Amino acid sequence: MVSLSRVAFIAFGVIHGANAWGELGHATVAYVAQQYMSPEAAKWAQTVLNDTSDSYLANIASWADKYRLTDEGKWSAPLHYIDAMDDPPTSCSVDYERDCPAEGCSISAIANYTQRVGNLKLSAPETAEALRFLVHLIGDLTQPLHDENYEVGGNGIEVTFDNYTDNLHSDWDTYMPAKLVGGSSLEDAQGWADSLVDEIKTGSYKKEAATWIKGDDIGDTVVTATRWAADANSYICTVVMPDGAAALQTGDLYPTYYNSAIGTIEIQVAKGGYRLANWLNTIYSQKITQSKNGKHHKGKSGKGKSGKGKFGKGPRDAAPEPEFVYEPREPRQLSRQNMARAAMGGSCCTSGREHRH
Ligand SMILES: *[C@@H]1O[C@H](CO)[C@@H](O)[C@H](O)[C@H]1NC(C)=O
Ligand SMILES: *[C@@H]1O[C@H](CO)[C@@H](O)[C@H](O)[C@H]1NC(C)=O
Ligand SMILES: *[C@@H]1O[C@H](CO)[C@@H](O)[C@H](O)[C@H]1NC(C)=O
Ligand SMILES: [Zn+2]
Repeated sequence: MVSLSRVAFIAFGVIHGANAWGELGHATVAYVAQQYMSPEAAKWAQTVLNDTSDSYLANIASWADKYRLTDEGKWSAPLHYIDAMDDPPTSCSVDYERDCPAEGCSISAIANYTQRVGNLKLSAPETAEALRFLVHLIGDLTQPLHDENYEVGGNGIEVTFDNYTDNLHSDWDTYMPAKLVGGSSLEDAQGWADSLVDEIKTGSYKKEAATWIKGDDIGDTVVTATRWAADANSYICTVVMPDGAAALQTGDLYPTYYNSAIGTIEIQVAKGGYRLANWLNTIYSQKITQSKNGKHHKGKSGKGKSGKGKFGKGPRDAAPEPEFVYEPREPRQLSRQNMARAAMGGSCCTSGREHRH
């Protein structure tokens, strides 16, 4: 486990009702990623985002959570999770065809925005939107309860943490990370990211970090993102609710449950950042520079040197990027447990399900 000095947590300083790795978690994923971005990919991302500050990814890491709460953006709410129809704590699994419904899910969205961010035919605002979604969703995917249908990703499991009654999902998203770090500002995120990067470089993650990105392939995003989701989902059975949900409702989750979970929260945030950087570096080297080179090969002189600036005005004569097409299998199959829940009037698994990830 990462050693971080525990600072007193000022509970009323944290806004209840925050969603999805809270802003702290997403900004930390972004700051970890920034430390692993190649200089060229970093410059490309800064240009796309029109932000040359040293928080260029952290500044937009929670944009998607604000967007989905607007009228214009509410269509995007289902893109923040995949509702695995597994059977925890007995059996955990993610199955893209089973679990990604017609309106899409985190995995189809990561595939879509991976395709779009490298598509030089899109406008600058469209490219920026794609990058903002990727930075956020690759983070969401590592939060185990974003890869679980049970009780709406734990939103329906009322628990007490640190003397507050809330739900398991928001404890994982927001309150347990904030308890660890002692605050939720960008500065707090930067400090947490630094300590996670230390663990990757010289500490307890050093040996395994390479396995976090092993086999990642921007040419096969669905398979890659499903592997990431299944990795996070497996913790539902081992760490999040190893003895079922009722066992979490017998007393305050602090300190015993918190102590059993916080190491997983830390490693998952670290993985999110490490994967995000590798993903963006690969998109840059395989799609952005390839397209630029393509232009040079056709003998049309590019303005500026390869790898420097001007990405917003990419070559319009590059081969058109095929769009990501998502064809869900219908009808969606429900697991035995979820059929029973649906029959009992549960809100988990019908089309009108409410999701507050
Ligand atoms: C980029 O950001 C600057 C300020 O930081 C702003 O003046 C400018 O309008 C932005 N450009 C675009 C295309 O949004
Ligand atoms: C919860 O509140 C009680 C009394 O109100 C207090 O004694 C206890 O220390 C608090 N527990 C935590 C974890 O803050
Ligand atoms: C891909 O993203 C665009 C832009 O946000 C969206 O309009 C479109 O519906 C998405 N397509 C899929 C298949 O998710
Ligand atoms: Zn989210």
